[in-house]
Amino acid sequence: MAKTDPSFVCQNCGAAYNRWQGKCEACGEWNTLAEENAGGSAAVPTSLRPRRKGRTFALETLTGDTHDAPRTASGMSEFDRVTGGGFVRGSVLLLGGDPGIGKSTLLVQAASLMARLKHRTVYISGEEAVAQVRLRAERLGLANAPVQLAAETSVEDIIATLSQGARPSLVVIDSIQTMWTDTVDSAPGTVTQVRASAQALIRFAKTSGATLILVGHVTKDGQIAGPRVVEHMVDAVLSFEGEGSQQFRILRAVKNRFGPTDEIGVFEMTGLGLREVPNPSELFLSERDLGTPGTAVFAGIEGTRPVLVELQALVAPTSLGTPRRAVVGWDPARLSMVLAVLEAHCGVKLSGHDVYLNVAGGLRIQEPAADLAAAAALVSSLANAPLPADGVYFGEVSLSGAIRPVAQMSARLKEAAKLGFKRAILPELTRGDGAGDAGLTLNAVGALAELVAEIAAKGRGKREKIA
Ligand code: TYD
Ligand code: MG
Repeated sequence: MAKTDPSFVCQNCGAAYNRWQGKCEACGEWNTLAEENAGGSAAVPTSLRPRRKGRTFALETLTGDTHDAPRTASGMSEFDRVTGGGFVRGSVLLLGGDPGIGKSTLLVQAASLMARLKHRTVYISGEEAVAQVRLRAERLGLANAPVQLAAETSVEDIIATLSQGARPSLVVIDSIQTMWTDTVDSAPGTVTQVRASAQALIRFAKTSGATLILVGHVTKDGQIAGPRVVEHMVDAVLSFEGEGSQQFRILRAVKNRFGPTDEIGVFEMTGLGLREVPNPSELFLSERDLGTPGTAVFAGIEGTRPVLVELQALVAPTSLGTPRRAVVGWDPARLSMVLAVLEAHCGVKLSGHDVYLNVAGGLRIQEPAADLAAAAALVSSLANAPLPADGVYFGEVSLSGAIRPVAQMSARLKEAAKLGFKRAILPELTRGDGAGDAGLTLNAVGALAELVAEIAAKGRGKREKIA
């Protein structure tokens, strides 16, 4: 008897097994294996399948008149910034994000803008009825945009419909998890279905030259649900992030074959949909608690754009055996490192304290340049000493306690000067940084211990008053 294909597939990573087991050995997740009927041609033993002779095709050179990825601007500049300047013909984007974060809202708005620019734009919803999408568009004041709308889930029907008439410029599929294709037998939402549906839709995009945006659900730990393979199949993976309680939303490229991956687009969710935020610094600083202990302003860089953001720390005596370390918007490993350097090189004892660190506005910082601002906020909270309200902080802390220089110092300083800051606490300058001309007072720190001593000196008086 011919060997049958394995039919238990991990719904997290797509690994296949020929018997059920509790844990997926490939990704380590529990209870993610589900039985899937391999179905289709895969069920036929390979030896019985008709042999097809290979077809010859023309090989081409690297030079030659390939049309260089022509882009279509979406009309939403924050979206275009993230994609690298607009949608590339025939490219496929995967947009992931928590439920309710605003993926559908973003795409309805982008599709409407494209349609108003006289591009054929098709929006296929597998989750909402046509009436619901219309209702939303009405609320957004976009009901008159000539978007072609349908509530469909069959991939074959969708491709047949799209192939009729003019080539669509933009096709939105909301979401890939609801799509199903006849070619495989598994239920919609399973890895096999998602993979096969994505494959068929991507093939359509590549042959027709339409830009395809797939919406992908996100699991509780932030991964795009379903097979990771879909991430490898698409040209760009975008993630739409934000704290549920905050109105800011950040669009970030996780992977991008046609553009940068470090640019962010900033939006604000309002009653009338998403509003673009061209100058995010003003937004992230708008609710600044001037001169409160534990607050430091970090001059960061997101992609090519300087962004000023407030870091808030709270250091409080703990009642637990193991003190708490909670961090929102920053890397917990980075926080542990800064805490360790403070203990080891600066004489700051934090092992008896709970530590909370929060990046205001729902931004997630990835730069090591935030180390100095985080350390300043932590020490300021511990010493109960407010930091100067007109200062910004940036610099990387090394394991030895030294402050290392970071990239793009002059861009950071210019942005700080623009927003009315008067001084910067930064790494010692090396020649050629060109940081001196922004008009700020520069306060260079060589070692973290210097900064700690400075903050603690200011705090001592207050502490005694409180005690
Ligand atoms: P939605 O786009 O449906 O999220 P997703 O597709 O990512 O699941 O967004 C739903 C949320 O957005 C909902 O909680 C309400 C909010 N919202 C607004 O605040 N203003 C608006 O104009 C719209 C359309 C939605
Ligand atoms: Mg949605």
